[in-house]
Amino acid sequence: MAEGLAEAGANIAIFDMIQPDPAFKELATRYSVKTAFYKVDVTSPEDLKRGFAEFQQQFDGALDICIPCAGVNKNVKLLETTPEDFDRLVNANIKGAYFTMQHAAKMMVENKTRCGSIILVASIAASRAVRGQYSSAYCATKGAVRAMCAPSAVELAEYGIRVNTISPGYIKTEMTAPFPHLLESWKSEVMNYRIGMPDDIRGACIFLASDASSYMTGNDIAVDGGVLNW
Ligand SMILES: NC(=O)c1ccc[n+]([C@@H]2O[C@H](COP(=O)([O-])OP(=O)(O)OC[C@H]3O[C@@H](n4cnc5c(N)ncnc54)[C@H](O)[C@@H]3O)[C@@H](O)[C@H]2O)c1
Repeated sequence: MAEGLAEAGANIAIFDMIQPDPAFKELATRYSVKTAFYKVDVTSPEDLKRGFAEFQQQFDGALDICIPCAGVNKNVKLLETTPEDFDRLVNANIKGAYFTMQHAAKMMVENKTRCGSIILVASIAASRAVRGQYSSAYCATKGAVRAMCAPSAVELAEYGIRVNTISPGYIKTEMTAPFPHLLESWKSEVMNYRIGMPDDIRGACIFLASDASSYMTGNDIAVDGGVLNW
């Protein structure tokens, strides 16, 4: 998503707890955009506040697009999920997304962008079980991300800020790559039997970030190879 947005001319700031992929460092020169990385734990109110403050200073508050994307998963049975397991998923996937969105919206209201776009990363797991995994807690958090989209869009419409979600299907990333047997088994759920790659999300991201989607808010794009409809 960062690469797609840089290619389209956007300056890019990333918040994460770990250093970005080395390819991220090349975006600035390849696409003549400004890039920055901020070490932020989105579950920490202090970290988020500091991250947005540093961004405001270094990018002059020029925020038009925000993609709360940080997420964690745990393959754990309903009957064995501990409160600690559940809190970890809720804190990163729900609270992290919600307060990242809140900080971003405040900055967009303040900078009067009028073309703000917040793209929450939900999942097909918001509306179905993940086959081959114990996913009750993870699905609960992704359902919450889907559910926060429309009411947030209603409140932010008056400021010219749109809020949508992307629901990826089965995508080969750091989160799923350690489970090749699952990736293989998920192919049977996809209409063209292909597991998605991160690049497959790029088009939907650029569409939702840009004015091409100016009449779309409070809604979802499932980039899932047809899983939800098959
Ligand atoms: N891979 C899939 O098949 C798939 C499908 C649907 C939705 N998703 C969602 O897409 C998003 C990205 O996941 P991914 O597949 O690229 O996995 P990933 O593990 O590669 O990326 C998740 C990133 O979030 C970061 N992160 C986790 N907790 C954080 C925190 N507290 N503060 C800051 N950063 C934190 C991680 O360090 C990591 O870089 C997640 O929200 C995930 O739930 C993934």
